[in-house]
Amino acid sequence: MGKLSGKVALVTGGASGIGRAIVGALAAEGADIGIVDRNAADARTAAEETARLGVRALAAPADVGDEVEMAGAFGAVTAALGDVDILCNNAGIDTISFLDDMPIALWDEMMRVNLRSVFLGTRLVLPAMRRKKWGRIINTASQLGHKGAPQMVHYCAAKAGVIGFTRALAYEVARDGITVNAICPGPIDTPLAQAIPQAWRDAKRAELAIGRFGNVEEVAPTVVLLASDAGSYYVGATLNMNGGDYMI
Ligand SMILES: NC(=O)c1ccc[n+]([C@@H]2O[C@H](COP(=O)([O-])OP(=O)(O)OC[C@H]3O[C@@H](n4cnc5c(N)ncnc54)[C@H](O)[C@@H]3O)[C@@H](O)[C@H]2O)c1
Repeated sequence: MGKLSGKVALVTGGASGIGRAIVGALAAEGADIGIVDRNAADARTAAEETARLGVRALAAPADVGDEVEMAGAFGAVTAALGDVDILCNNAGIDTISFLDDMPIALWDEMMRVNLRSVFLGTRLVLPAMRRKKWGRIINTASQLGHKGAPQMVHYCAAKAGVIGFTRALAYEVARDGITVNAICPGPIDTPLAQAIPQAWRDAKRAELAIGRFGNVEEVAPTVVLLASDAGSYYVGATLNMNGGDYMI
């Protein structure tokens, strides 16, 4: 019996990087897993690998910023696995541009994928969590939502939005047995971070107290804590695994 046996987790962006590690860590504790990701092939591979851990796992491809696709994916996960007990709003994108050069479309896409998606996913899971008087919502924000960074006003604004969303909703649902928290990773070596230009990565590495990027295995255990009964007194918290980039 794992800490999360009998629970169903839905992880967005679970096909890659931090989300993939969250999927593995939750499954290792016995949770059944729905993987919602726009990369259908990688989501299916992740689901197959996860099922080998002895839990039920389903890939439900969708664009997390699209209301209809998200509702469809949520329906597929609940039909196959049951009510969602743990929601990890993790899918996200990262682009860079100075404000002066930023196309409106780049701003809008950032808000759609990194912030609107959190609203959409959360609305879908709350009714069952309220009914069951138990739920865990864990949002992947970023330390940059606290700290800011040049060329990333859109990303930082979206992640600050996720933090604000987390705190506001935590007030609304805590007495229903539902906790809402955020993780705020620093730079973690994933395909997302690897796509950022090398000069930006080198400058970031130089700033870090620990002198290196983190890895996904240094993020996922915190999500397991927040998802489990041991995490029941974290309410509206932001947990910062960031190599000392921003100490709060
Ligand atoms: N890597 C970092 O340094 C870092 C730091 C802080 C926060 N984060 C956040 O962590 C989360 C995961 O990032 P990662 O580094 O693992 O990136 P990643 O690129 O490895 O994984 C992101 C996943 O999200 C999926 N995705 C992207 N847009 C989607 C959409 N519209 N619909 C459905 N799925 C979509 C991708 O297909 C991918 O599988 C993001 O929210 C990111 O902002 C990352």
